[in-house]
Amino acid sequence: MPTKIKALLSTAAEGQTVTVQGWVRTFRANRFIALNDGSTLGNLQCVVDFENFDENILKNISTGAALRITGNYVESQGKGQTTEIQVEDIHVYGIADPDTYPIQPKKHSFEFLREKAHLRVRTATFSAVMRVRAALSFGVHQFFQGEGFHYVNTPIITGSDAEGAGEMFRVSALDPKNPALNEAGEVNFQEDFFGKETHLTVSGQLEAETYAMGLGEVYTFGPTFRAENSNTTRHLAEFWMIEPEMAFFDLDDNMDLAEKFIKSVLRYVLENCQEDLAFLDERFAKEESSKPKLERSEMGLLEKIKFVVENEFKRVSYTEAIDILRNSKPNKKKKFNYPIDEWGADLQSEHERFLVEKHFKTPVILFDYPAKIKAFYMRLNEDGKTVRAMDILFPGIGEIVGGSQREERLDVLQERIKAMGIEEEELWWYLDLRKFGTAPHSGFGLGFERLVLFATGMGNIRDVIPFPRTPQNAAF
Ligand code: 4AD
Ligand code: MG
Repeated sequence: MPTKIKALLSTAAEGQTVTVQGWVRTFRANRFIALNDGSTLGNLQCVVDFENFDENILKNISTGAALRITGNYVESQGKGQTTEIQVEDIHVYGIADPDTYPIQPKKHSFEFLREKAHLRVRTATFSAVMRVRAALSFGVHQFFQGEGFHYVNTPIITGSDAEGAGEMFRVSALDPKNPALNEAGEVNFQEDFFGKETHLTVSGQLEAETYAMGLGEVYTFGPTFRAENSNTTRHLAEFWMIEPEMAFFDLDDNMDLAEKFIKSVLRYVLENCQEDLAFLDERFAKEESSKPKLERSEMGLLEKIKFVVENEFKRVSYTEAIDILRNSKPNKKKKFNYPIDEWGADLQSEHERFLVEKHFKTPVILFDYPAKIKAFYMRLNEDGKTVRAMDILFPGIGEIVGGSQREERLDVLQERIKAMGIEEEELWWYLDLRKFGTAPHSGFGLGFERLVLFATGMGNIRDVIPFPRTPQNAAF
């Protein structure tokens, strides 16, 4: 059985015969192969005595080629690595023609690598990011399972718009060139696959709520889709969201859980991804040092992660935040693209980042937002104008979590649905929850890629998901 390089690198090198398999990162001087198999960041040096090998084999070894190598695992004679393999046998599974293989051993821009998204995981940076991503997702399950939550799978095809923002992708099996029409000459969705209009879900929340009202504490972790035309470094059209939903939780319980959850998964990667994070920390430092002084992050990557794990998040009401923003320097000097003059304004990412990065210098939980700018399902406060919403804002990221206590009172909910112009019939099952055994409950959604962005120090959300979907881009 071939050995994984990760396992081998933590084994004593006593001249034992081993077999490894992987891809060539570099081949120097017709002698030194740096082999990587994805199990770990590090490459394994494999030393070839070219006199023992056929020209025809050696000429097939170049960056990107897939090999199986057998040899003796020994202490390294050279500098730069402590152990190596003295190669006795090489099998070339697949060559990678150097004239056409795009991933060469040199610095490629992330923009270039996005166009080679099927091969970019063979670089050190992307393999590190994807291992951290995988570990984070394990950390998510570990946290919720440890807290006694049940994992539920909510539907991806849906007939309702959970966020009420109307930014959904249509799912249809009708022939676009010749769709069934009704008498008014409009597309007749009764003839469509599901007999009604359907879309890809923007959130599993509404369905998760139904399960919380029976299983108590549940979470979803699945893909969600938004047809918003946001071409930013923080938005994807397809992203993964973690949505816990808890019966009998009020907003304070909800905020406590969200903070504990984020700290737990970050602690998990600090403990389990040390090598990858050390590498990403160095990459982050290099990138920051190339920026103008004023734009540089005040902390390194590891420092930022530890800061979040060790410090309490600052909890601030929307009303307090508006006061701070209104009186802030950038607002007075008209530096914000969206000036803040009135209570009720929706916060833009420039405002969120000011609060987190300049004012409080710590993660912030904003709560009690104006009802007008939030979704229909959030619980109305006594004041009649704010709702029990909360957003968690992170340095360098902006909003990472959006959540709320849910409106559990049937009459208040019906009123809100009406005021927002939503068809009550679409939500009959959701309203049923308020008719049969209703109870206070809360939940939130964390954008998984924004968490990966934060934990890896990458600058663009397109670089923390294997195959990003963004406006005008669904390649691969
Ligand atoms: O704030 P949002 O829209 O909240 C909801 O969808 C609620 N139903 C969640 C709940 O209470 N169960 O989205 C939640 C989070 C955001 O805070 C952000 O981190 C992420 O999802 N998000 C995106 N991430 C990447 N690309 C996008 N286009 C995103 N839109 C939201
Ligand atoms: Mg939100």
